[in-house]
Amino acid sequence: MNQVKNIAIDGPAGAGKSTIARMVSQRLGFLYVDTGALYRSIGVCALRNGVKTDDANGVEALLPRVKVELKFVDGVQHVFLNGDDVSEEIRKPEASMAASNVSAIPAVRAFLFDLQREMAAQNNVVMDGRDIGTVVLPDADLKIFLTASPEERARRRFNEMKDKGMDVEFAPLLEEIKQRDYNDSHRAIAPLKQAQDAVLVDTTENTLEESIARVEALARERLGL
Ligand code: DC
Repeated sequence: MNQVKNIAIDGPAGAGKSTIARMVSQRLGFLYVDTGALYRSIGVCALRNGVKTDDANGVEALLPRVKVELKFVDGVQHVFLNGDDVSEEIRKPEASMAASNVSAIPAVRAFLFDLQREMAAQNNVVMDGRDIGTVVLPDADLKIFLTASPEERARRRFNEMKDKGMDVEFAPLLEEIKQRDYNDSHRAIAPLKQAQDAVLVDTTENTLEESIARVEALARERLGL
């Protein structure tokens, strides 16, 4: 049987999950699946339809008319919402809080669960999110819990936005990170938490390259690559 390999990377917002997961997946020749993008697309869908993102019934009522698809163009993930490529729109700041809100709705999690499982059943994946090691892929070959202090995460985001020429302030960014951490780890369903068998990787003191190398080494060792 052709056995696929799955790597789960979970952790709080801004810990470097997506960059590290993308780089490691490239080096291993795995598909990178960014599950946050799925929640963001549901958040965008609610915003587009004028539905409050914390209105569970309102958001749930949208779901029967929603189709979310992941397509890979030259190895880069694109997210389609009812056929519309929303890959850029989901990165806007308002989409972040919208995603955090809709992700607390059980019907939304159930809606996205099968899509994530399917991707992992058919491909060697590095999948990142909040509940991949605990809920979506409990049998993943390797689970990583990637974190860094809130201040360090806010500092990285601040520098990233500054580099893009955006006009940002540090304090509100730190506040947003703390608020999202709280939301994501205190919701009733599938809260952000480290799986028992996950390897903790704290990147606070590390450069990006050091963190990528550490995760790649863990993957090669565990998966025998
Ligand atoms: O990783 P991100 O910032 O793109 O995720 C956006 C939001 O989606 C985040 O606040 C929590 C939620 N999320 C989740 O609940 N479960 C996942 N597997 C991925 C993201």
